Amino acid sequence: MDDENGAAMVPIRYVSYQGEEQLPIIMSLIDQELSEPYSIFTYRYFITLWPQLCFMAFHEDTCVGTIVCKMGQHRNTFRGYIAMLVVIKPFRGRGIATELVTRSIQNMRDAGCEEVTLEAEMHSD
Ligand SMILES: CC(C)(COP(=O)(O)OP(=O)(O)OC[C@H]1O[C@@H](n2cnc3c(N)ncnc32)[C@H](O)[C@@H]1OP(=O)(O)O)[C@@H](O)C(=O)NCCC(=O)NCCS
Repeated sequence: MDDENGAAMVPIRYVSYQGEEQLPIIMSLIDQELSEPYSIFTYRYFITLWPQLCFMAFHEDTCVGTIVCKMGQHRNTFRGYIAMLVVIKPFRGRGIATELVTRSIQNMRDAGCEEVTLEAEMHSD
């Protein structure tokens, strides 16, 4: 056990996006952690077109992380793009984002992506 509340003893469960009923969970997680506000249409754009690039990480029944991506032709390459990636603070630093990214990139590679990009927010603190 490496956690004050013992949370580390419970393994993280990774699930691929199953359907619209998971959308509110994904939206609330991202809205609380990323400063850019996204409309439901933005979420639907990504997740409906590329459901195989969306994963969620669960600790017991709580969603603690998620990734939302897209892919498509960009100039001369077929490119994957990580649009949203979030892990809630108490669960950071234990490889959850790494696992979410690895799963998405694997599916991008299988679909023929030659490169993957993402944008990150900068903080001065
Ligand atoms: C970025 C974020 C998703 C990382 O989640 P996480 O589960 O803690 O990441 P991991 O534990 O898998 O760490 C992966 C690597 O990134 C590094 N890392 C994680 N957060 C970092 C940060 N803020 N600054 C620099 N490096 C960081 C880790 O040290 C680790 O490196 P290592 O593999 O060499 O040890 C999480 O901090 C977060 O949700 N941040 C706010 C939202 C955000 O900025 N999202 C990305 C842009 S969409």
